[in-house]
Amino acid sequence: MLLGTILRSGSSDHLVASYGKAAMKTMLVTGGCGFIGSHFIREIVAAARWRVVNLDKLTYAGNLENVKGIAEGEGYRFVRGDICDRTLIEALYSHERPATVVNFAAESHVDRSILDSTPFLETNTLGMQVLLEGARKHNVERFVQLSTDEVYGDLDRLSPSDEEHPLAPSSPYAASKAAADLLALAYCRTYGLPVVIVRSCNNYGPFQFPEKLIPLMIRNILVGKDLPIYGDGMQQREWIYVDDNVDAIAQVIERGRVGEIYNVSTEDEQTNRDVVRLLCDLMADEVGVDVKSLHDRVRFVIDRPGHDRRYAMKAAKIRTQLGWEPRVSLDMGLRRSIRWYFDNQPWLDNVTSGAYRQYYDAVYARAGA
Ligand code: NAD
Ligand code: TYD
Repeated sequence: MLLGTILRSGSSDHLVASYGKAAMKTMLVTGGCGFIGSHFIREIVAAARWRVVNLDKLTYAGNLENVKGIAEGEGYRFVRGDICDRTLIEALYSHERPATVVNFAAESHVDRSILDSTPFLETNTLGMQVLLEGARKHNVERFVQLSTDEVYGDLDRLSPSDEEHPLAPSSPYAASKAAADLLALAYCRTYGLPVVIVRSCNNYGPFQFPEKLIPLMIRNILVGKDLPIYGDGMQQREWIYVDDNVDAIAQVIERGRVGEIYNVSTEDEQTNRDVVRLLCDLMADEVGVDVKSLHDRVRFVIDRPGHDRRYAMKAAKIRTQLGWEPRVSLDMGLRRSIRWYFDNQPWLDNVTSGAYRQYYDAVYARAGA
């Protein structure tokens, strides 16, 4: 049925699209209804230099509310579908003729990959192969893969990783993303597919699904639940406000060198304990809750299996080659995020109705929380 819809747009709709295409090339964005993808799509549609086709399966993490307000029309089209669906992907490549593909589509959460790695291998690795194969056949001019610092594995007691650092993924999520990176580089070398890889540190900001640390803590504070920190909470992560990552991705699309990998990081390492402490302080300040009662709700729970102690990346390459710099401090980004979640509690209620409860129970029962 979906395929039928795409083929039918070969009639009058397609003419309109083709007319627009003379001026604007098409960018196929996958996973554009997720957290980072939706921020990216908003920016790229607003800039009006690309015609954007957003392909998203709308899993639990994908939400049309995240792209609400972006009008479908000549400059933007939404297609619901799976990157693993070869027939659909072939139809999209041949009818939309994207010059650039940006692949955000993924199963993106480590804890879920520990519960069941199957969808991670399917989407993150097999789906990647389907997209790459189509890109090769249809002579895509640029293929940008969204990767992660997690492919380098645990950096405990090592110096921060540059882009040459060996891959040593620890979780099924990280392994499925590392496999995708290797496939992308293999397609670049073997077939000359113009691939560029962006590896970013932990993102946070509005529209992030409340399974990741920061939105989960904000929601738990808002709904009066405890704040579960895994293990001793001394694990270290680098945090980037989502707009800064979107800016980096846009620069890589424009000027990144083919076959290259770009780390995107603030190079500001924070322990989970410190991030949660800061979040409690800022939350108290922003929404007027008692700070002591928030700190009292922190619980140290059983650790995540295989938990990496530390991620740390060098971002010198993107800074020097492309002139990218992060602009939003952790304090400012957390304040913006807190305000957004506070003002958008119906969004939170909506995404945490239904299956969220079973997910929460499965992870936090394991953690003894
Ligand atoms: P997300 O989980 O919020 O969104 C993923 C999106 O992909 C959702 O809209 C979902 O519906 C869609 N999707 C999932 N499976 C699909 C499939 N088979 N076909 C089509 N669409 C599918 O993820 P995010 O946090 O926005 O991350 C985007 C990308 O950035 C991912 O590739 C992730 O690995 C990477 N990344 C994320 C972070 C982070 O901190 N969030 C850090 C580094 C890298
Ligand atoms: P997360 O946001 O899941 O991202 P990632 O695993 O990709 O780094 O987790 C960030 C850090 O916070 C990680 O060290 C695990 C930890 N964490 C907790 O301590 N408690 C939680 O409830 C969650 C979700 C994460």
